[in-house]
Amino acid sequence: MKYLKIIGQKKLSGEIRISGAKNAALPLLASTILSKNTINIGNMPDVVDTNTFLKLLNNLGSAGKRDQNTIRVNTLNINETKATYDIVKTMRASILVLGPLLTRFGYCEVSLPGGCAIGQRPVDLHLKALEAMGAIIEIKNGYIEARCQEGLKGADIVFDKVTVGGTENTIMAAALAKGTTRIINAAKEPEIVQLCEVLKEAGLDIKGIGSSEITIIGTNRKLLEFKDFDIIPDRIEAGTYLCAGAIANAKLKITHIMPNHLSAVISKLEEMNFEIIKEKTSLTILPTTSIKPVNIITSEYPGFPTDMQAQFMALATQGEGTSTIDERLFENRYMHVSELVRMGADIHLNGNIASIHGKKGNLSATDVMATDLRASSALVLAALVAKGETNIHRIYHLDRGYEDLEGKLKRIGADVSRHNE
Ligand code: EPU
Repeated sequence: MKYLKIIGQKKLSGEIRISGAKNAALPLLASTILSKNTINIGNMPDVVDTNTFLKLLNNLGSAGKRDQNTIRVNTLNINETKATYDIVKTMRASILVLGPLLTRFGYCEVSLPGGCAIGQRPVDLHLKALEAMGAIIEIKNGYIEARCQEGLKGADIVFDKVTVGGTENTIMAAALAKGTTRIINAAKEPEIVQLCEVLKEAGLDIKGIGSSEITIIGTNRKLLEFKDFDIIPDRIEAGTYLCAGAIANAKLKITHIMPNHLSAVISKLEEMNFEIIKEKTSLTILPTTSIKPVNIITSEYPGFPTDMQAQFMALATQGEGTSTIDERLFENRYMHVSELVRMGADIHLNGNIASIHGKKGNLSATDVMATDLRASSALVLAALVAKGETNIHRIYHLDRGYEDLEGKLKRIGADVSRHNE
């Protein structure tokens, strides 16, 4: 196993180019199952999860391959409709093939994803939506078996709770259904907006893009003709590097982004006393004399993203005073707390609410363990300001979602290296 060694307190400055969004890429790769032609997808982040998804599609019979940051894929010859445990256990987002496989082939099996480090993460809302569209679903031997011999039928779907993956699966299922589907209380994340836009470009009649009510007129199993497209920039990677600039008190320019996707993150950084220069496709964070404490409640987009909670916690450890974070989306997304405490942070948990008693310069280096993707990035941020040498173990979590993390950090002056255990 590999670990990252970071020697903290180096002076950072410069520019970081942001990669394509992992969480846009995964549903978009799933959506290629709805296509009758070859598609070139550019700005595809070269991270473990997108490569695993490509492998999943190829296991089903697709012809897909990566050439640097482009994936070229054709799913016309899919001859297998089972997403097996060995892949699903490594990547929960594999559940995103459920809607497109079912709507195209009328039958599929997907291994039931289990819980993960951040919570139970059930998929009941995905299944309920498909059932409302006429699917017969059974759970057998750990697999979701779904069938709809006559194809799916449009329906009104009202989500009890906003779900990103559930909304994506339903949109893709509705694309080839017969009739009109209305998704009410749909998620509004930029990644969902791009999925809708790509499908619209491919000829799908879809309205309400970016709103909480999406209407789709299905094609009755006629495959779509996709155009080539580029993945949108990764707003969470961008937010993570803004926090790197903030915690290291550096001037850092984050480029190739869509700043409007980061409004909630920018506004919290401003509350913390950072000045941010906004340009059309970049943001520059400037150093500050003191970091103010902040109160954060995670919520669905456009609210403050749960995927940025851990990074802000690392930053708040350097604030002057007590910050609070209220995690409302996942029940167990505080695995980084005990590791930050081991580095000297003063953090107390009360249920879902974390109180972070900040003090500049209170972090010291040690060996820490990465537990999930975003928790790992919080440890990287903490290591950038800790005194001494931090070793972050189990970095395969980071490799799932951050493209060339070491390269990007090294180019701005950080002392980061990768080693074998
Ligand atoms: N939920 C249910 N039932 C369902 C689906 C979701 O109860 O059927 C619950 C979840 O347990 C959770 C909440 O609803 O409490 C929100 O879950 P959601 O379905 O929105 O999340 P997801 O689709 O599983 C995506 C991202 C996550 C991100 C969340 C929230 C991808 C591949 N993953 O997950 O990203 O945290 O939305 O924004 O898009 C990450 O990138 O590190 C990551 C975990």
